[in-house]
Amino acid sequence: MIEKIQALKDEIQAQLSSIDSLDKLEEFRLKHLVKKGTIQALFDELKSLPKEIKPIAGKELNQLREFAQNFYHELFGKLKQSKITESQIDLTLPGRKNFIGRFHPVKQILDEMVEIFISMGFSVAEGPDIEDMYHNFDALNFPPEHPARDMQDTFFIASEDGLLLRTHTSPVQIRVMEHQKPPIRTIMPGRVYRNEAISARSLAEFHQIEGLYIDKDVSFAELKGTMMVFAKRMYGFDSKFRFRPSFFPFTEPSAEMDISCFLCKGQGCRVCKYSGWLEIAGCGMVHPNVLKAGGIDPDKYTGYAFGFGIERVAMLRTGIDDIRLFYDNDIRVLKQF
Ligand code: DAH
Repeated sequence: MIEKIQALKDEIQAQLSSIDSLDKLEEFRLKHLVKKGTIQALFDELKSLPKEIKPIAGKELNQLREFAQNFYHELFGKLKQSKITESQIDLTLPGRKNFIGRFHPVKQILDEMVEIFISMGFSVAEGPDIEDMYHNFDALNFPPEHPARDMQDTFFIASEDGLLLRTHTSPVQIRVMEHQKPPIRTIMPGRVYRNEAISARSLAEFHQIEGLYIDKDVSFAELKGTMMVFAKRMYGFDSKFRFRPSFFPFTEPSAEMDISCFLCKGQGCRVCKYSGWLEIAGCGMVHPNVLKAGGIDPDKYTGYAFGFGIERVAMLRTGIDDIRLFYDNDIRVLKQF
């Protein structure tokens, strides 16, 4: 029996090198690997063998079958591949379109805003996302008991005393003043963090662009003029804006800028909470205490500052009415912009 197995093994091995087509491989399969093939025939014979030889012969035969099967599968894959020749490729099929990557819509809007301010003579500065209490609050004239410092609103870094994720880009104003003397005309874009419930209107992480202009005799009229020119270039010259008195610890007087609601055209709807207006920026004349904290003499210099929320602008421009859509990273949404 062992000899028979050996003989079959020799026969199979001798055939291997001559198989160079799928037809020949199929012949090989039909001869050796099917139920009525040579290998199975030997398995049938195995049954009538004496007990002592059965396991030895069985082992040999199993190895032979495994060898033949592996050989078959491997060669089948190779021959199949090489069979796909030019004649089988449909040259009339349209080509696959290249997927072209692009910037995220929020980044596109941010770049556009930065470009407009650069064209008006502003430089660009950046500050750290992880700030200290001093730059985020104290130097900006926040009193010690101000509610914005609350654990509820601010992400504090538990392991580092006094460090937090900046809640706005205004601390970069202080960092710019610390390193530069007037005239200062700078914008400061960046990411900010607030411990807020996530909804269609607000996220815990978003972007702002801060502006700071300090020189001799800077006026509130210049602030309004700059913001109006920016807003008209960003939204189109027929969009409507208004300034409302407001309060921020770091500016005095302070104001907020609204744009006429893009959805209802000022008629009143859910998005603008039936007021017809949407807030797009905070602004004001830099508070003397803030100038002092930045090492600038408030008797010699005055300045204005403003802060735009970028996602709000991106919503207005793209027509996306749920802010979360920007960060779900659904490619079907993002590729529209
Ligand atoms: N930092 C303010 C905020 O996060 C926005 C702001 C308001 C910035 C007035 C300013 C400003 O520079 O003058 O809500």
